[in-house]
Amino acid sequence: MSATRNYTLRIWRQSSANQSGSLQEYKASNISPDTSFLEMLDIVNESILKSGGDPVAFDHDCREGICGMCSLYINGRPHGPLQKTTTCQLFMRNFPDGEVIYIEPWRAKAFPVIKDLVTDRSAFDRIMAVGGFVSVNTGAAVDANAILIGKELADQAFDSAACIGCGACVAACKNASAMLFVSAKVNQLAILPQGAPERRKRVEAMVAQMDAEGFGNCTNTGACEAECPKGISVTNIAKMNREFISATLDLL
Ligand code: SF4
Ligand code: FES
Repeated sequence: MSATRNYTLRIWRQSSANQSGSLQEYKASNISPDTSFLEMLDIVNESILKSGGDPVAFDHDCREGICGMCSLYINGRPHGPLQKTTTCQLFMRNFPDGEVIYIEPWRAKAFPVIKDLVTDRSAFDRIMAVGGFVSVNTGAAVDANAILIGKELADQAFDSAACIGCGACVAACKNASAMLFVSAKVNQLAILPQGAPERRKRVEAMVAQMDAEGFGNCTNTGACEAECPKGISVTNIAKMNREFISATLDLL
């Protein structure tokens, strides 16, 4: 069995949205390198509970890199030090024994802190609600598959659809821009024949909602792509801009 490790954690604690927060120090002791980052936080929370304290609130759900809920800023990077890895798929073997680890929530005006490391990312839900779907009934699987789609287009749509809505792109961006997320969702549907009839309405509504939620603009820094756990490309943003301009010029 591999040797265990000890860490000092500096975790952002904030009791509610209306209170100010601060970094508090905790010890994570005898942690196996095979422990995931969230399991390590579970262990720390158990010891906080045993001593009568308030456990650290953090978001998680699937713990399989699928749902996009785990949203931690670790040592200054969304989802921690590894590329294309969600926090729940990050293991303590990537943190040397004795390291001081800083754990903070996403920081963006449109993602206000609810408690500790939990932020309100319902802005993404509202953007999806105004157009991130196909409103016609496409029927059962047999009907839906009756429209043949070339592999190249299917691959492009799938690459965009790989976005899990985690918000790391917003957290990584100096402008807190949501354009990588929104563009992935717009393109995923615009590329496919089932999504084409609502292309114009969709891109106009989703961009308008993105702006209304208070996200910043894209200035082509590329931090979003670098920190995205699913490798969503910034080419999606360029495609969405073309989609948006075509919609406003009535070309779609
Ligand atoms: S584009 Fe990437 S970083 Fe942004 S929400 Fe989607 S998966 Fe997360
Ligand atoms: S908990 Fe679902 S992606 Fe991490």
